[in-house]
Amino acid sequence: MSDFIASIDQGTTSTRFMVFDRGGNEIARHQLEHEQIFPQAGWVEHNPTEIWERTRAVIETAMNKANLRASDLVALGVTNQRETTVVWNRRTGRPYCNAIVWQDTRTDRIAATLERDGRGEVIRRKAGLPPATYFSAGKLQWILENVEGVREAAEAGEAIFGTTDSWLLWNLTGGVDGGVHVTDPTNASRTMLMNLETWDWDDELLSFFDIPRRMLPFILPSSNPELYGTTRADGPLRGEVPLAGDLGDQQAATVGQLCFRPGEAKNTYGTGNFLLLNTGHELVRSQHGLLTTVCYQFGEEKPVYALEGSIAVTGSAVQWLRDQLGIIGGAAQSEALAGQVEDNGGVYFVPAFSGLFAPYWRSDARGALLGLSRYSTNAHVARATLEAICYQTRDVVEAMTADSGVSLDVLRVDGGVTANQLCMQLQADILGVPVSRPVVAETTALGAAYAAGLAVGFWRSTDELEQNWQEDRRWRPTWTDRQRDRGYAGWQKAVSRTLDWVEI
Ligand code: G3P
Repeated sequence: MSDFIASIDQGTTSTRFMVFDRGGNEIARHQLEHEQIFPQAGWVEHNPTEIWERTRAVIETAMNKANLRASDLVALGVTNQRETTVVWNRRTGRPYCNAIVWQDTRTDRIAATLERDGRGEVIRRKAGLPPATYFSAGKLQWILENVEGVREAAEAGEAIFGTTDSWLLWNLTGGVDGGVHVTDPTNASRTMLMNLETWDWDDELLSFFDIPRRMLPFILPSSNPELYGTTRADGPLRGEVPLAGDLGDQQAATVGQLCFRPGEAKNTYGTGNFLLLNTGHELVRSQHGLLTTVCYQFGEEKPVYALEGSIAVTGSAVQWLRDQLGIIGGAAQSEALAGQVEDNGGVYFVPAFSGLFAPYWRSDARGALLGLSRYSTNAHVARATLEAICYQTRDVVEAMTADSGVSLDVLRVDGGVTANQLCMQLQADILGVPVSRPVVAETTALGAAYAAGLAVGFWRSTDELEQNWQEDRRWRPTWTDRQRDRGYAGWQKAVSRTLDWVEI
């Protein structure tokens, strides 16, 4: 009898495969990083072939370690870094070029032009997104214009586009021998090409970027009882497992945190961090720099929407301390180093490496360290980095409160950075509300497993999942209001200094 549900979490820095039981407990996992390719300042690429190879390897290793077979799995879900753009040939299966990653800013001119000639308003209305380098459409336009042969192949129906969910689903179900070319509304809603009210590709939006419609995948529900397909028998699972769930990673974490009711929100701290507030079936248009996006679509039900505050640089700021500045040996050391000082000593760090995302949407911003004096040390820089993570979240929480009128009474958190106790304490202090982390911290992989399991009846309803959520740790605010206000005023001043830094 099959007892488990599995999921693939294809993230920005690594790919992991996890297996869960009915209680949402972890049965197996394996994870591998892939190369981050930086060909020029502002460019970030991944090799799609390497991502598929890593996916195969994590599946095989996790299954072997736990002594599992394909027949032990009821279904498989996929979740992924969103927006990252892959174009490949449907006949050969070969990508035409590296994937352009969501953090890449090479399309800043394309985005700035959209804003200047008034198309920005149409994109906001139809896609719920501001014209920014973040989303897939500009990246796809760039590939069509700059990579030899792609435009002709796309017109001929040979070059096809997908985010990494589509790329993996295509390879898992057969690749050149009949792979499916599909995505779900959460991923599609991040391309700038999907109309939020029809849940389909929009011809006017396609025309803005000159993208042939036949390149695009079919949009199917995030939790799909009809299935996207089954894994091929000679693939990494060595058996046919139904593929039943597909969600962008932040939406998957929202499902994994069981934010099924309007007004419920979660914040995931990964490479970047992303706060999503479930707004139910209502499409809430942000007046304060947040995105309107699809939260999930289960089966034939109408999609549920979310307001999202996307922050580009979170865990990657800590990585930068390690890899570029060399002031820590590993991410965990950031806590010890920042803990050597009582406060930031007046130092603020605005990690605007990819410009600033929500709520500012300023591609012309660049990172800055401010308030330095001879007194400043590595410890102050480390503390300012952790505080930056928390202040960026405060910025989007302020925007969310202004847009929705709902004040958070607790922030549900997950993701790698939540292992940093000091950072989570600072988060509670800077927000002035408690911060709560669940026992199963892998909410992204769990959310994709839930979507797949609900589709095939492994779990009968979202109510049944409620008992799987348990609090592991809660951090309560300790700062005075005056401390909080002064700290935030310093942050806002620092942000204002980073704007208008590069010309677009
Ligand atoms: O929108 C980008 C986001 O999906 C990336 O998430 O966890 O890979 O940093 P993560």
